[in-house]
Amino acid sequence: MKSPYNDTVMDHFMNPRNMGDLEDANAVAEVGNPACGDMMRLMLKINDDGVIEDIKFKTFGCAAAIASSSMTSEIIKGKTIEEAIQVGNNDIVSALGGVPEVKVHCSIMAEEALEDALKDYYTKTGKNLDDLNAMIHKYKGDRPEHH
Ligand code: FES
Repeated sequence: MKSPYNDTVMDHFMNPRNMGDLEDANAVAEVGNPACGDMMRLMLKINDDGVIEDIKFKTFGCAAAIASSSMTSEIIKGKTIEEAIQVGNNDIVSALGGVPEVKVHCSIMAEEALEDALKDYYTKTGKNLDDLNAMIHKYKGDRPEHH
């Protein structure tokens, strides 16, 4: 049977980048995909300049979910919070060279985890969550909460 996934997706699925645990993470999120019950845990280390220095993830899910997690980790590593918040699931899917239509929802988990992890960072460090929400709104506009 021919795989429905392209080579980039297969590569990130077979050799996920930045998979594992991050001991000194200061931003952590766990999200689930209600459509299928899959889960993703995202851990970030954000430095004092607001740069995402390190990132690790663990995803219990399908090939598209794991590849999306892996690609997201590569895209946002080294980015500032403001740059990272602009990364949406469309960017993740296009960086992967596309996924089958029925698998697009799998890439949303990575975007959600990223937003939640940044919220966690703001909360933990006593920053104003309204600032982050304003930034999310600025780049992504009004959209329904996924969860
Ligand atoms: Fe669950 Fe893809 S089928 S995330």
